[in-house]
This record gives sequence, structure tokens and C-alpha cells, in this order.
Amino acid sequence: ALPVIIDCDPGHDDALALLLAVGDPRLRLLGVTTVAGNQTLDKTTVNALKVLALAGAAEVPVAAGCDKPLVGDLTVADDIHGASGLDGPDLDVPVAEVSGEHAVGLMRRLIVEPAEPVTLIATGPLTNVASLLHIHPEVTSNLERIVFMGGSTDRGNTTPYGEFNIVTDPEAADIVLRCGVPITMIGLNVTHQALATTEIIAEFEGMGTRLGTVCAELMTFFASTYLREFGFQHPPVHDPIAVAAVLEPSLVQTVIAPVAVELTGTHTRGATVVDLHRRTPYRPNADVAVGLNVDGFWRLLMSAVRRLNKS
Ligand code: BDR
Ligand code: CA
Repeated sequence: ALPVIIDCDPGHDDALALLLAVGDPRLRLLGVTTVAGNQTLDKTTVNALKVLALAGAAEVPVAAGCDKPLVGDLTVADDIHGASGLDGPDLDVPVAEVSGEHAVGLMRRLIVEPAEPVTLIATGPLTNVASLLHIHPEVTSNLERIVFMGGSTDRGNTTPYGEFNIVTDPEAADIVLRCGVPITMIGLNVTHQALATTEIIAEFEGMGTRLGTVCAELMTFFASTYLREFGFQHPPVHDPIAVAAVLEPSLVQTVIAPVAVELTGTHTRGATVVDLHRRTPYRPNADVAVGLNVDGFWRLLMSAVRRLNKS
């Protein structure tokens, strides 16, 4: 199975990303690292432990990373993810403990140890990943690819042109995008197609299991905040698309393009500037997602969750 690490800030959709990674036998989840983003680091860390326990994967090591962006202060997304970062279901207090190691140290070890190159999937602000690349640049030789959920080829969700993960830590995103490792960017332009519709929520509920019910409760809460904050009829599940792109690349259509992060714009700090039509002299540095097989994605996610229900 393909070795992967997930760096995340759970987060309702991060939770689904973890379930997909644990539930699909084609991936080997080496470790999970957490970052401050949707909520403070202590909360995203406990949420990661809760989700892994629920998925029967409490043995996967979890390490906490950076508690604030490289520059400036943290602004959490409690308007979307609630006070806990994972509001909705009543989840058990996890038994497994967080590793004593910092996320950056755990990531380094998990990347350099295996003989096979490792894929790093990031579904939160890129603070840990940028710190890793800065402190341990030698990891790049055993990194297959970095796939991150963040940015957009068009508009944003946190500012008119800025997406949450990038706006939260633009300097980190800039470091990652310029690191030279193959990169896949999964932006809002595709994640907004993967909506947890009423039918999807009913399918989770219809599984008749604890995990299915938790997924339904997570998506019901997520739906309520997306309706209130954005007027969306159904909430977009961003993060599991990054895992799907690793599992089945054919589900996500990409275009190679130069991507830069706006670091100074008066109104656009944190925007991803994607030169899809190659009008600038900059070298392409990312495979940018531009299309999604929505049905194929949900099939993949649902079968992973069903598989976890049986194990
Ligand atoms: C991203 O922001 C977070 O709220 C989600 O978990 C996702 O990673 C979408 O903009
Ligand atoms: Ca996230």
C-alpha cells in the first residue's frame, strides 16, 4: 500500500479525509500530524485522536505541530466547525495519547525511514509542512508528492479571493509552493462540487452503525453552518478530495500551472494566483485540480466508510 502522512486540523471535512485514508486498503497511513487552523492546536489534536479511535485506527501515531501561523495570529473557523472544531456528534474521549514528539520531527522520521517515497497530504494551514521543509530540507528526496487542499483557481471563502487554509498562513503556503517537490493543489474550484447532500447524509445514517451515524451528525452540523454563513444548500467536503486524488488520480482532473501566493495584496493577501493560461514567464510548480468526478468520489468515500464499519 502507498505510504501517506496526513497533516490536518480536524475539522468536519478533515475527519472524512482521515476516514477515507484509514478505510481504503490501498493506503498505509504512517502518521497523522495536527496544526492550528479550524480550531486551536489542542482541539484539532484531540479531534484527530477521536476520529482515529472511531475508525479503529488508534495505533496510528498522532503528533501535534504548530499552534499558530508563521506570521501573525491565528484566527480559527469556529463559525464553520463550532467551539470544539468538530461540533455535532458526541465523541468518546480518546484513550490513545498524542506522541511526545513534535509534528515536524514525526513527519521527518516517517518520511526518511521507509525505503519507498512517501506522499504527504495536507488538509489544514501549511505551517507544519513549511516548517518541515525549512528545518529538514533533506526530506524532499524521499517525498513522492505533496497534495494539499487549499486555495482556488477562482474566488475564496475567507476573503473574496482567499481560501481558509492559505489565508491562515500565506507564508507557509508560499514556502511549500516553492519547494520543488511535485505538488497537487486541490482548491475550492473543485471541492465546491463535492456536496454532502441530503441523500449523502441519509446514506451515512442508513448504514445503521455508530460510524455512519457520526458521519451523518458531522455533516448535519456542517450543513447548518454552511447554510448560515454562506447560504449553501449543502456543505462542500473539501479535504477528502485530497485523499481521493492520491487514491484514484483519474477522479481529479489537473492542469500543470504556475501558482503563487499573494503575500502583500491590500485586499488579496492569501490568494492563490493560478496562471492557468500560462500568461506569465513563471515556471509551472503545481498540478492544479480543475475537474472532479463527483459520483466516483462519493463511491470511494462511502466504500471506505462501509469497510470501516465491518472491521
Ligand atoms: C478548508 O478550510 C477548512 O475549514 C476545511 O477543513 C478545509 O480544509 C476549506 O477552505
Ligand atoms: Ca481542513
